[in-house]
Amino acid sequence: MNQCAAARPAPLVADPDRLAALPYDVVVVGAGVAGLAFTLRLPPGLRVALLTKGALGESNTRYAQGGLAAAVGRDDNPELHLEDTLLAGAGLCDPEAVRALVEDAPAAVAWLVALGTSFDAGPDGRPLLGREAAHNRHRVLHAGGDATGAEIERALVARVREDASVDVYAGAFALDLVVRDGRCAGVVAQLAPDATLVRLEASETVVAAGGAGQLWATTSNPAGATADGLAMALRAGAAIGDPEFVQFHPTVLALPGTAPFLVTEAIRGEGAFLRGSTGDRFMETVHSLAELAPRDVVAREIQRQMERDGLGWVTLDLRHLDPAAVRERFPTISAELASRGLDLATDLIPVAPAAHYAVGGVVAAVDGQTSVPGLTALGEVACTGVHGANRLASNSLLEGLVFGLAAAERIGDEVTAAAPAVDRGDATRRTVASDGLGSRSPAGTAILRQRLQGTMSRHVAVVRDGPGLDAAATDIAAVTEALGDGPLDRRDLWELRNTADAAGAIIAAARNRHESRGAHFRADFPEPDPALAGRHSLLIDRDGRDGWHFGALAEAAPSFDLPLVETNDPSAIETAAG
Ligand code: SIN
Repeated sequence: MNQCAAARPAPLVADPDRLAALPYDVVVVGAGVAGLAFTLRLPPGLRVALLTKGALGESNTRYAQGGLAAAVGRDDNPELHLEDTLLAGAGLCDPEAVRALVEDAPAAVAWLVALGTSFDAGPDGRPLLGREAAHNRHRVLHAGGDATGAEIERALVARVREDASVDVYAGAFALDLVVRDGRCAGVVAQLAPDATLVRLEASETVVAAGGAGQLWATTSNPAGATADGLAMALRAGAAIGDPEFVQFHPTVLALPGTAPFLVTEAIRGEGAFLRGSTGDRFMETVHSLAELAPRDVVAREIQRQMERDGLGWVTLDLRHLDPAAVRERFPTISAELASRGLDLATDLIPVAPAAHYAVGGVVAAVDGQTSVPGLTALGEVACTGVHGANRLASNSLLEGLVFGLAAAERIGDEVTAAAPAVDRGDATRRTVASDGLGSRSPAGTAILRQRLQGTMSRHVAVVRDGPGLDAAATDIAAVTEALGDGPLDRRDLWELRNTADAAGAIIAAARNRHESRGAHFRADFPEPDPALAGRHSLLIDRDGRDGWHFGALAEAAPSFDLPLVETNDPSAIETAAG
């Protein structure tokens, strides 16, 4: 066993019981596919609070381009989907959890379609299926060509808005989980900017606020992806698993002077090539799947090629493909590139790896149960074992959907409606805007954020090593110290604390794992250690000591063998697509 000490950071709010309380049956933090699917699947009658930091509909889900993987093709079946997922996961997937995911995928897709999601379909009504890295079949459902997440989010948001039992708090910030006698009893939140903090009390609290891309200087994630869910659960004492596995997307637009923008892997699925500065296709000699090798392999090779070329990018080349077909299949990316003076079909597109997806997180069973009774974790924030050391492309929307539905089935059975309606006007009442801290200005916060992002990008990215991780640990501790022990009362400071707390966990686990596996590559330990296959990094209490241990996820999550979604008729996919 390999261990190192790791103190959990203290909660942001020292005494939540002094805050005004609002009663709910269920509180959901996060409104991506997981939080929304969960909310919609709950039985009627429960009073639900749904908190989202931005506008409703603004989440990592919305930016997912490629799609949603499910074995719905004629030449496909869940067993093949399982095989590809396990292979990409590099010896760290939980096979039972993966089986639950892939077997329930077609029924969950049918549920989405029945709710109004419109996937791209051919003239026969069957869904058109794309291919992405490490999939041996065309199995990726997409919508609007490359706007899949946006279409799913649209359909789910429309339904949630119709549901009178759901109080939607857009623009809310959840700071901390409330834990009493070892049970999660709700969250501390600011329900609108500048409102006073309140305590939302609930029988069940659901954290579905994943996304941690803002820990790095370049990311495919939106600005709100500051690891809020992971940091809250970490501070609350929940078991954390495998945070060192952070997926870098190989092809994020790297046009100097402009913001990063995801260029979907589905483009390589349609035949795009990656080229170095001499014009050579450098992936052909590295992996039998060439540009469609697993994502971690492609990201590392791009990194090497950039170093060989002395450039901050390689190029994606679609010039050999039919330009009209390219523009039709990828309208969002075509339009975005056009706004920056590039033509997807005829120009070489500069791309580089950027932080994309947190593979690890809060240890959870396939129905979201965590180590803390009353706390459920769903979607990107959860570590259910389905992604292992490297997530298979387009399995993430699927995970949020399938396990979100499964969690609702469980909680619908457990929680009985008891909460009265809340006066929302009172709940979001604003105070006089406080400049809060006094000592640290927003500009000072921005400098600390840049320091954190610079450190993570230099030392905790595609390639890591011991000295770099040590330096990162020191630097992140300095950021935390600069934030101070006193109360923080502004959102930029809460986000900074969240990113620093999450970074601390990622670095601790990365220092501890003396091997290379999936998305965690260490130059000083370049091979996988067979003894660590199936051994997860866990921040848990073992033998009275809360620290990092290697072990099985089941040590921290109650059960993996619960029934999932009731079977729907998968033929609904055909009739409602398009
Ligand atoms: C992409 O479209 O390339 C991203 C899909 C994913 O991360 O699963």
